[in-house]
Amino acid sequence: MVISGGPRMPEVMEWGVSSDVAGGPVVDYEHYRAGLPPATLQYHPPIGLFAQESLGFPGRPGISGHRPDGTGWSPRFVRTEERVQPDGVSFVLEDDRAGLQVIAAVVISDGGAITIDAVLTNVGDTPYTLATMAPTLPLPSSATDLLTLSGRWTMEFMMNRRPFQGQMIVENRRGRTSHENAPVVFAGSSAFSEQAGTVWGAQLAWSGNFAVIAEELSDGRKFFQLGELLLPGEVQLAPGEAYDMPQVIATCSSAGLTPATGRFHHYLRNEVRPKPLGPRPVNLNVWEAVYFNHDEGVLMNLADEAAKIGAERFVLDDGWFGSRRDDSKGLGDWYVSPDVWPNGLGPLIERVTGHGMQFGIWFEPEMVNADSDLFRLHPDWTLTTDGYAPVLGRKQLVLDFGRSEVRENIFNQIDAILSAHDISYVKWDMNRVIVQGSGADGRAGVRKHVLGLYELLDQLRLAHPKVEWESCASGGGRIDAGILAHTDRVWTSDSNDARDRQLIQRGASLLIPPELMGAHIGPPTTHTTGRTHSFGFRAATALFGHFGIEWNVLEMTEEERAGMKDVVDLYKTHRNLLHSGQVIRLDHPDSSIVAHGVLAHDGSEGLFSVASIHTRTATSSAPLVIPGLTGTYRVEPLLIGGELPGTDFAPPVWMAEGADRNLFREAKQL
Ligand code: DGJ
Repeated sequence: MVISGGPRMPEVMEWGVSSDVAGGPVVDYEHYRAGLPPATLQYHPPIGLFAQESLGFPGRPGISGHRPDGTGWSPRFVRTEERVQPDGVSFVLEDDRAGLQVIAAVVISDGGAITIDAVLTNVGDTPYTLATMAPTLPLPSSATDLLTLSGRWTMEFMMNRRPFQGQMIVENRRGRTSHENAPVVFAGSSAFSEQAGTVWGAQLAWSGNFAVIAEELSDGRKFFQLGELLLPGEVQLAPGEAYDMPQVIATCSSAGLTPATGRFHHYLRNEVRPKPLGPRPVNLNVWEAVYFNHDEGVLMNLADEAAKIGAERFVLDDGWFGSRRDDSKGLGDWYVSPDVWPNGLGPLIERVTGHGMQFGIWFEPEMVNADSDLFRLHPDWTLTTDGYAPVLGRKQLVLDFGRSEVRENIFNQIDAILSAHDISYVKWDMNRVIVQGSGADGRAGVRKHVLGLYELLDQLRLAHPKVEWESCASGGGRIDAGILAHTDRVWTSDSNDARDRQLIQRGASLLIPPELMGAHIGPPTTHTTGRTHSFGFRAATALFGHFGIEWNVLEMTEEERAGMKDVVDLYKTHRNLLHSGQVIRLDHPDSSIVAHGVLAHDGSEGLFSVASIHTRTATSSAPLVIPGLTGTYRVEPLLIGGELPGTDFAPPVWMAEGADRNLFREAKQL
């Protein structure tokens, strides 16, 4: 990485990973500086780390805001200090006139990811209202394609590739990370693929509103800019107060998207995660088995059957508390419902733990129903705006976690449940977006809510260090490196449809490694899509994440039960490899083929999946090339439930019997 010196705002001149990106400067702006076209400024304005309107940068300024009288809106910083360390550099930037100071650090982590952190302090003597703070990273002109992840509920993380021309802005204003847009962007040449081409990527570690920009200026220079999207007046810094911007994590590889996102995985695994994870237990979640119909007898039976097939964690979902018999009431009242659990949760938990399984439980702590004791007591605790009828989502409102008294109430309620029971896991759900979310002072409150959420999670983790936490938001509505600093896995999607999951998990794997990605095998016919898939396909799809079961085990046939036991054993045998190795998404010329796998870092073994997600016009497919293999390997099919998944007629000989690589070579030579 090369960053400009001197007294001005630092400019990133080159970035990449020297061992990986061969050749000279990877971003070369010099030739743009050579000449000046008519109708422009008398020089090419710099694209600083925080790009400045005050020097002519024509895009969205890296830092903007204003004083009460409107002044200070276009700062121009000078570098007053710089400290170079082996792994990065930090700066102090000051603008005395605007009364602002920035302390920023750019660091290259062990695995090659680059992080940008910065804090802006109001050193003036009046309040400063901040509008934007977002660093820029330059890109070479050879980056002609953009890749983002977009989607919807049950179809998150779809890869969206488009030409890189002009300005692309992805804004999220939903108050949580969202199903619609992930806070990440990649750029590369039009030929970049999983295994080829130089790829540049950046993501924002933040679980609220954000703006991701990829822009090409009219002089041809290109850049990324990522930052929190601040609502009007949301951040008002009193004299001496500071704004700590969400971290930007950047990556680059000259060998395609797969190694570039491998750097994200390395960073998440080693730097972001709050604690090391042990072997990921097989989760059995009862949501789709019983929904709101909680019955002690049925759930005991479910626990017995779950244990028999080898589940290691039993998660009781929505419906166990307060008046929550459907989705219209009860949120906010986190006490065990005497109506459905007259004996309390104790007997079920004992049954579960008696089988050697962990017990997990669902909460949706940020929410309240109007029909709840909490709302009746504190109708003013919601993130709404006085004088306007609130907009409901799933018949509920969002509590304002920006207020300490709200967090304290929810902490006490959750703490009481966790302290009174042997609970090892919490599924933390968040089922609606935030609309017109003002805090008690009437000002926009999304940022404070997100910070309050992080704070409450940390407080609960401290009080209950043995509990693991799952981030769920109607499936994959809150998946980002921000929330993963406070939780241990995500619920990737409410769709357990194996065909869709192939694509959802592939997209999610651009951001997160498999051990953090909840992947459950559902019933033959998926509840959310109505589509039916074979057991082998469903199992082989769920295997490549943090494996679990979302199926009423009491309804399984004997054959399905036996098959499930096999798959659970298979997962247990391979989970160390699956959750520590290098994730490889394979290129394939046929768009109906989704091929991916995990290769051990020492290359000694790997597990791969090749799925055909729609019928191909050709009966056989092009060979798969797995990068990074050295020496001779034996290729063996994994039997799922005693069968080869997906083969209907006569499988190829190698698939039926296994083969080593030399055999292929010999066969070819013949
Ligand atoms: C949405 C989640 O994604 C589901 O898994 C389930 O927990 C429901 N909420 C419960 O209301």
